[in-house]
Amino acid sequence: MANVAVIGSQWGDEGKGKIVDWLSSRADVVVRFQGGHNAGHTLVIDGVTYKLHLLPSGIVRKSKLSIIGNGVVVDPWALLEEIKAVQAQGVAVTPEKLIIAENAPLILPVHAALDRALEAARGKKAIGTTGRGIGPAYEDKIARRAIRICDLEHPDYLKEKLSGMMLHHNALLKGLGAEPIDENDIYRALMDVREDILQYTGVVWKILDEARRKGQKILFEGAQGMMLDVDHGTYPFVTSSNMAAAQAATGSGVGPDAINYVLGITKAYTTRVGEGPFPTEQNNEVGEFLGTKGHEFGTTTGRKRRCGWFDAVIVRQAVKICGIQGIALTKLDVLDGLEEIKICTGYELDGEKLDYLPASADKQARVTPVYETMEGWNTSTRGARSWKDLPAEAVKYVRHIEELIGAPVTLLSTSPERDDTILMHDPFMS
Ligand code: IMP
Repeated sequence: MANVAVIGSQWGDEGKGKIVDWLSSRADVVVRFQGGHNAGHTLVIDGVTYKLHLLPSGIVRKSKLSIIGNGVVVDPWALLEEIKAVQAQGVAVTPEKLIIAENAPLILPVHAALDRALEAARGKKAIGTTGRGIGPAYEDKIARRAIRICDLEHPDYLKEKLSGMMLHHNALLKGLGAEPIDENDIYRALMDVREDILQYTGVVWKILDEARRKGQKILFEGAQGMMLDVDHGTYPFVTSSNMAAAQAATGSGVGPDAINYVLGITKAYTTRVGEGPFPTEQNNEVGEFLGTKGHEFGTTTGRKRRCGWFDAVIVRQAVKICGIQGIALTKLDVLDGLEEIKICTGYELDGEKLDYLPASADKQARVTPVYETMEGWNTSTRGARSWKDLPAEAVKYVRHIEELIGAPVTLLSTSPERDDTILMHDPFMS
């Protein structure tokens, strides 16, 4: 039995929720390994919609172990709110079902304040962050200033650490013209939630080692998408963590050999929220069509997503960097009814052809897409459950995507419903 890592191969919002839910029903353990509550995963199970941000998708299923790994930045108040919300929907969340790595760093109110103040200071060059404090929290981790879950066990040490951190951050907030924050308020707020959070704490690397030795199936649940990766994405218009599949190992405390199959989740067209380069963006009626039909609004911030044609260049890049072995193609039905469909197969820059997205922000902003035009289809693909239910043009489109990105379609999702899925290969059986 294989362990599977699920990775977004574009700019996030590829429809990971449904696929992860489908896979989590077959896994024993579900692990989040990067990001924080900037993520938004929507699950629809038996007609009930669950909106998750920080909790792993396994939480909505009985008898699955859900783990928040050390690579995640945890806002304790947001986490407790989310636990409360799913509990109100009848989901049991207990220390037996949910474990948070003791070495995971915390997001504090000062991080969200800094996130907002820094965005305001960037003016026209703003990144368009979710405002959740993700970037500043990761900065503190790397700067060795972060408060980690395990520090909640030691109030005196916590107070001392917080003091050092706030000295640094209040100077910055003042410099940015924002209100300083009283460290005692944060300390008190942390002491209020301390017990509630500590009950879920565990030694995650050890628990995962035991799970592996018992032959349990582990699902590593990625958030966001490869083009938002802090190393490989459209820097600086990225989030502050790594989405690349190798992070599933570092962000949870397992060796790279624990990841046997990398599944890339890929939307049949492209979307992005926030600012930054987007070569195939369609600021026209095509973009409107995709956005309206695909309900392209952010789960976390409600922002309208930018929409465009499928960009095979960036997905091919994600396939190579992540070692994606197969993709789950989502939202094919959104393309139903289009007369023509374009696919970006390469870029042009300063008269030269490129088969990859260069790292420089200037070049990323200036590449122009080279398109191939394919025939669309008039019949509906929504709800199709086998290849023979699909119009020939749709099959051709999918096959061409496989060819261009260099990875097979393992799974095809044809509606938000769980059973509207065409499975070619079970990733857990790899
Ligand atoms: P941050 O993660 O809040 O710092 O935001 C940085 C960039 O990542 C912004 O462009 C956000 O819109 C984008 N982003 C963060 N999380 C998600 C997500 O879950 N889906 C899509 N975009 C995201």
